[in-house]
Amino acid sequence: MGKYGRGDTSWFTHDRFGMFIHWGLYSMLARHEWIKHREERSDAEYQVYFDLFEPDMFNPKEWAKAAREAGMKYMVVTSKHHEGFCLWDSKYTDYKATNTPIKKDLLKEIVEAFRAEGLKVGFYYSLLDWHHPDFTLDGCHPLRNKAKKEEYDKGRDMTRYAQYMRDQVTELLTNYGKIDIIWFDFSYPGPNGKGRDQWESEKLVKLVRSLAPDIIIDNRLDLPGSGDIVTPEQYTPDKGMVDEDGNPVVWEGCQTFSGSWGYFRDEATWKSPKMCIEMLINHVSRGGNLLMNVGPTSRGYIDHRAMDRLASFGKWMKYNGRSIYGCGQAPSEFKAPDDCRYTYNPKTNRLYIHFFSWPFKHIHLPGLADKVKYAQLLCDGSEIHFSSTVAQTGMTSGSPSGAVTLNLPVVVPQQAGEVPVIEIFLK
Ligand code: GLC
Repeated sequence: MGKYGRGDTSWFTHDRFGMFIHWGLYSMLARHEWIKHREERSDAEYQVYFDLFEPDMFNPKEWAKAAREAGMKYMVVTSKHHEGFCLWDSKYTDYKATNTPIKKDLLKEIVEAFRAEGLKVGFYYSLLDWHHPDFTLDGCHPLRNKAKKEEYDKGRDMTRYAQYMRDQVTELLTNYGKIDIIWFDFSYPGPNGKGRDQWESEKLVKLVRSLAPDIIIDNRLDLPGSGDIVTPEQYTPDKGMVDEDGNPVVWEGCQTFSGSWGYFRDEATWKSPKMCIEMLINHVSRGGNLLMNVGPTSRGYIDHRAMDRLASFGKWMKYNGRSIYGCGQAPSEFKAPDDCRYTYNPKTNRLYIHFFSWPFKHIHLPGLADKVKYAQLLCDGSEIHFSSTVAQTGMTSGSPSGAVTLNLPVVVPQQAGEVPVIEIFLK
């Protein structure tokens, strides 16, 4: 137990797969959630989106159903992003959904819908706030090139802003039932930035722990020792993540379907379903979770490009989810062959081999001779024959020394999906 307490990550490392939701006024501009920064918009220029925000097709039950069917077990939603707009009915600001034409506490409905589908609930909360009257100018600010710092900062007070964050976090953690994750984003310390001193991170973490002792806190508060999870973003670590002493850490990669977190109409770099599924497997095979993002439109629905990919996850997870839930990195003595990834379930002592390309007839698994009790294709539970005999003639594909050889069907059943999996029961 560190100085700042510890969240309960036991469910988290079991569940492995969650949905990230980025939704705010930026969905109307439909070209990235940092648009206010990128186009250096003033509050006045950004006001029209607040005045007209009306997601008339908002139905979070559809989002939650899509997430559950994709195999996701938890979600993290942007209660407030850098633009400062709040999806809930906060007492501490007028810049909130209830004051837009939709006039609803959107967050409340989202939370209820996801709970009803059995998912755990997390809140993303932006440390940056480009709308708050006490938030000072810095290198990330939309007006960084347009305003003079001395003038802009006049009357602004970051200690009041830090109190505002604590007040809002108190609302979020008391008015919406049990919250399982709080995801603060992000710190950029330095002369032109902000970090733990401006956020008053220590006070913030202590407050969070006092309200929700078990909650999982991310690691972006610039406060060493306060994070329960490490959060690589838009890249997949090539091996398990470790701390300074080489011990494995709990980590969660957050990823987008198309490069942007907020809804981006003209984005063309959508990952294929196979890439998405491989991404999930890569994360779990290296001991991590995957938090996969959707950016709903300003009318309130998740567009078909994202829905299609969620459906692809679901199709694959239906038959192969056993290689994901409760699984993590395989013991280091097992080395996966080329184009394959292992995951391992320590409770059942089963090893899962994922094939990113399907080999012809045989595959050798080094180090597994005499360790395999039984093997089957996961998607249909059909037996896979294996042998540990060393090849004598070079005419047949016998096992190299120390390896086990699986005899594979030439064609796998369709439901094996994008990435077939073989389940190996170890002795
Ligand atoms: C970055 C971005 C942000 C996004 C987040 C998700 O920190 O500022 O737009 O919400 O990553 O991890």
